[in-house]
Amino acid sequence: GMPERVTIYEVGPRDGLQNEKTVVPVATKAEFVRRLLAAGLDTVELTSFVPQKWVPQLGDAEELLDLLGESGTGQRRPVLVPNERGLDRALEKGVSAIAIFGSATESFAQANLNRSVAESVEMFAPVVKRALDAGTWVRAYVSMCFGDPWEGPVPVTQVVDVCSRLMDLGCDQLSIGDTIGVGTAGHVLRLLDALEEAGIGTDQVGVHFHDTYGQALTNTLTALQRGVSVVDASTGGLGGCPYARSATGNLATEDLVWALDGLGIEHGADLQALVETSTWMAEQLGRPAPSRVVRALAGG
Ligand code: HMG
Ligand code: MG
Repeated sequence: GMPERVTIYEVGPRDGLQNEKTVVPVATKAEFVRRLLAAGLDTVELTSFVPQKWVPQLGDAEELLDLLGESGTGQRRPVLVPNERGLDRALEKGVSAIAIFGSATESFAQANLNRSVAESVEMFAPVVKRALDAGTWVRAYVSMCFGDPWEGPVPVTQVVDVCSRLMDLGCDQLSIGDTIGVGTAGHVLRLLDALEEAGIGTDQVGVHFHDTYGQALTNTLTALQRGVSVVDASTGGLGGCPYARSATGNLATEDLVWALDGLGIEHGADLQALVETSTWMAEQLGRPAPSRVVRALAGG
């Protein structure tokens, strides 16, 4: 059956804004985060500690954390960290939750991390060890779990192998990424079954669906029925990865909340406040939010 409560893992400030054509001013980002927190979201991923030349959109990570102060700290304010340099930067800012991000495919490992899958696991190992030693919460993302723009379909065994290697480092949570949004419900079940067989139960798994083919919500509900209770979503449906062709926005937080409300599943977020936040953000970005629920409720 469905869980009684779902943890919404909000990725709008990170996944949402990393793919914008323009760099959003840091004060606007801080206001976005404040509005998301005021709307009752539990976990908000804030930014990435990656080189500015790789993701100029998030080149202001330190400034953003300075602006957020207390509200930007704690184990429910993760940031992306690829390597030890990123970890040093994050720890210096008092961060206590990080996410490493691997790839199920060699093509995307090269495009996104400039190294092979094996080399990226080597890069992550000391990051995870040092983070855990410092009492930091660690999530492991795995991208291209359902398909890859260069390689096409990705075998479930290959996905499980990478997930296991990252979880064996001691990470607290796994997030299975459908980076390009091609997955369907049966595929979600096959992957969750295979992960469980490999010793990674649904209590350790979050789902990260991009909505390219309109399957993100269906896939999410399928995962919930199978025991998952952590769901990644992006307010307004912003998002995408600059290093993956054909990646579009994440599951919109509002679409998720609408569905959870209908099912009577607790989540803690205020739908109207999220819609207002998306409407405000759309004005900042100069284009409407992709979310269907936002369009329906914004009264435009
Ligand atoms: P590299 O070029 O191989 O790195 O990139 P390097 O170690 O050779 O360093 C190159 C330069 O960058 C050096 O400076 C380093 O000091 C510096 P130089 O000597 O040239 O002056 N440097 C750094 N500076 C600041 N912060 C750092 C840092 N690291 C090195 N952390 C690297 C390798 C992993 C760094 C690069 O490939 C990278 O940053 N990749 C990340 C790309 C990215 O952020 N992608 C989007 C996030 S993933 C995603 O969206 C998917 C997800 O949503 C799930 C899904 O949907 O599937 C999570
Ligand atoms: Mg993503």
